[in-house]
Amino acid sequence: MDHFSYRQGIYHAEGVAIPALAEAIGTPFYCYSSATLTHHYRVFHDALASLNPRICFAVKANSNLGVLATLNRLGAGADVVSEGEARRALAAGIPAEKIVFSGVGKTKDEMRFALEQGIFQFNVESDRELRALSEVATHMGVKAPVALRVNPDVDAATHAKISTGKKENKFGIAMDHAADVYALAAMLPGIRVVGISVHIGSQLTSLAPFRTAYRKLRELVLQLRDAGHPITRIDLGGGLGVPYLQRDAAPPAPAEYAAIVRETMGDLGATLMFEPGRLIAGNAGILVTRVLYVKQAAEHLYVIVDAGMNDLMRPALYDARHEILPVREGGASPTTLTVAGPVCESSDVFAKDISLPLPAEGELLALRTAGAYGASMANSYNSRLLIPEVMVNGSDYALTRPRPTYDAMLAAEQLPWWM
Ligand code: LLP
Repeated sequence: MDHFSYRQGIYHAEGVAIPALAEAIGTPFYCYSSATLTHHYRVFHDALASLNPRICFAVKANSNLGVLATLNRLGAGADVVSEGEARRALAAGIPAEKIVFSGVGKTKDEMRFALEQGIFQFNVESDRELRALSEVATHMGVKAPVALRVNPDVDAATHAKISTGKKENKFGIAMDHAADVYALAAMLPGIRVVGISVHIGSQLTSLAPFRTAYRKLRELVLQLRDAGHPITRIDLGGGLGVPYLQRDAAPPAPAEYAAIVRETMGDLGATLMFEPGRLIAGNAGILVTRVLYVKQAAEHLYVIVDAGMNDLMRPALYDARHEILPVREGGASPTTLTVAGPVCESSDVFAKDISLPLPAEGELLALRTAGAYGASMANSYNSRLLIPEVMVNGSDYALTRPRPTYDAMLAAEQLPWWM
């Protein structure tokens, strides 16, 4: 469920007409709906409410301060993977005691920063990282609260590039090494063991891999407790998928996911933590782009738009498909066309041979489900400026990230001193 819809033939974000936004801020831009963010957060939270969940939004999905501040007001914490993300979460008002620091390659500087802030938990991914964290914490005269991230060797049945829980992936500690690493953690002076964590992948459209992973995790928790380790927190990661195309089957509902969590973790008496990203933000954002040219090439009818793969990398990187809609309904009858961006790469194609009314040059298109891993993965390839992000709330809107200027782009660099 989202709050993007046609009203009298014009696509709206809540009460705001998309053409009016395009007029005010230019194209392309990301547009987020506060009501949709709020709705998704509540649905997820309410499904798990009886388990008293701690929900830490995965900031990598959408790190816009407006988005983070909206989620903060709803009570969300944050799951961060860099000092930059931690600083964003803090700047949005999320207190350090609601922030989890994940990631396979934290630097000592980042560890120090997080410890200074009084972060809730580090999810640690190797014995080497554990030793480094202990060193930093000891030096500061504190103990770092740690959950070890384990790798359950479960196939998440999702795109290979976003699968993280198989033993060949770089993530986590193999389950059969976990006992040794927990023993090490118990000995290290700068470490305070508080729990365990797991995250098997993203955009999961089946619940079976969660069940398999959580059952394995449960067994491990019982063994670790028997060995005397205080596993009082269990962080179950993120990963629930969202529908990208209208024809996609509905992915598992949070309530069904919650049933699996209850079944596998409900009686362990631990604090349960979650790190959803896409489920909260995915459908809360669209990418609005303008048609520049229509071009008939040998094999495809190309609609060249002003957004490119640098603005939304998902199609080029994961062969992802986002639903594309005309902002004004009721154009020509549908024809087969290919929507491509201006970037000088053949992979800069948003959708190949889809059926859409042929838009006229200057018309607006909306790429749906772009609220997660859209703006947060954008870059300035081809020296294109990062695009603005705007947030809608009822009939109001606010520019939460203005379009930068070319002057700022050039001012960020300097020539070598000898020139
Ligand atoms: N926790 C950890 C440790 C993660 O690595 C991730 C995502 C999440 C939570 C949130 O997962 P979610 O609930 O959003 O599935 N750029 C890719 C997705 C990469 C996901 C990376 N990790 C995409 O656009 O599909």
